[in-house]
Amino acid sequence: MPMKIPFFNYPALFKRNEDEIMALIRDVLTRGAFILQKDLEEFEDNLRRFLNVKFAFGVADGTNALILALRAAGIGPGDEVIVCSHTYVATAASVHFVGATPVLVECGYDHMIDPKAVEQAVNRRTRAIMPTQLNGRTSNMDELQRIADRNGLMIIEDSAQALGSRYKGKHAGTFGLAGTFSFYPAKLLGCFGDGGAVVTNDDRIAEKLFLFRDHGRNKDGEVVTWGTNCRLDNLQAAVLDWKLKTFDKEIERRREIAAAYHNALKDIEDIIPPPPPSNTSDQFDVYQNYEIECGRRDELKFYLSEQGIGTIIQWGGKAVHQLQGLGFENVRLPVTEKMTSRFLMLPMHTALSDEDVSYIGQAIKRFYDKKV
Ligand SMILES: Cc1ncc(COP(=O)(O)O)c(C=O)c1O
Repeated sequence: MPMKIPFFNYPALFKRNEDEIMALIRDVLTRGAFILQKDLEEFEDNLRRFLNVKFAFGVADGTNALILALRAAGIGPGDEVIVCSHTYVATAASVHFVGATPVLVECGYDHMIDPKAVEQAVNRRTRAIMPTQLNGRTSNMDELQRIADRNGLMIIEDSAQALGSRYKGKHAGTFGLAGTFSFYPAKLLGCFGDGGAVVTNDDRIAEKLFLFRDHGRNKDGEVVTWGTNCRLDNLQAAVLDWKLKTFDKEIERRREIAAAYHNALKDIEDIIPPPPPSNTSDQFDVYQNYEIECGRRDELKFYLSEQGIGTIIQWGGKAVHQLQGLGFENVRLPVTEKMTSRFLMLPMHTALSDEDVSYIGQAIKRFYDKKV
């Protein structure tokens, strides 16, 4: 009898802490504290401390976090921003929506933006590099910083998938002029709806973010510039602040699961698993996703679904330049295209038991042993 292991399991995660979550929500509702209240301020403060960064602003979602960061950086029409094509469409869309042009480049064999491709894409219109800190890993920030410094470019990190990941001890999202996060429910730190944040160490960027996310209003409530409504709800902030308290445990469990997957998969010739968790390498990975590469991807996916195991092909197996209707019809990125035909994500969340993880590993081994 096959087990049932869905790719994600929101109800199980809720059930585990139902009483605490309901008490938290009741408390916010009883106080009638919905918009820009103390729960948001406390969450921002705790997020800022966690990341060791000067400012953090809760915003509506990860996409708007990117748009706000780009606007605050003064990027607009006539500017180009270099983005990895193996990312969510939102990364490139945010550049489009501030009126600038996203320039899509290859990912390297580690699935992250390829610094060599970035270097080749720089021209006189380039204003910024926007690396995606993908799957819970931080890019090689030394290389990207070197390119940015040499060419006078800004770095804005799309860290939607990488809260808690580090490069040489420094948190994703805190390297560049600004960094953004998503709190979409399936994210490492997920809320019960949409949510996001922008962080920065720069006073001027912080001032703009403060105004832009709340109709251009200053601390006295006076409108002093054009802004929009892009606030993180207080209720979501309360949930996120509560989750942040045990976030280290979340990361630890994900790293345990990744280590178990790695052991199960490392000797299978057709599969390239992500690097195993390490405490000594430059990258401290937090495994937002466990994305493997494999030659027989579609067959394996089908076999696993028959065994009751949910898997997902991230973004439908398409890099941004492969999406229709966005104007990238003439862009060819052979490394990325080959990889997007091979990527597969295994379940990765803390409702998975050791037994689930071992069942998944065994099912994959069986698939290759039997040559089914
Ligand atoms: C890499 C990346 N960037 C941006 C986003 C957008 O975040 P949100 O869904 O909160 O708008 C996501 C969310 O899936 C993402 O994975």
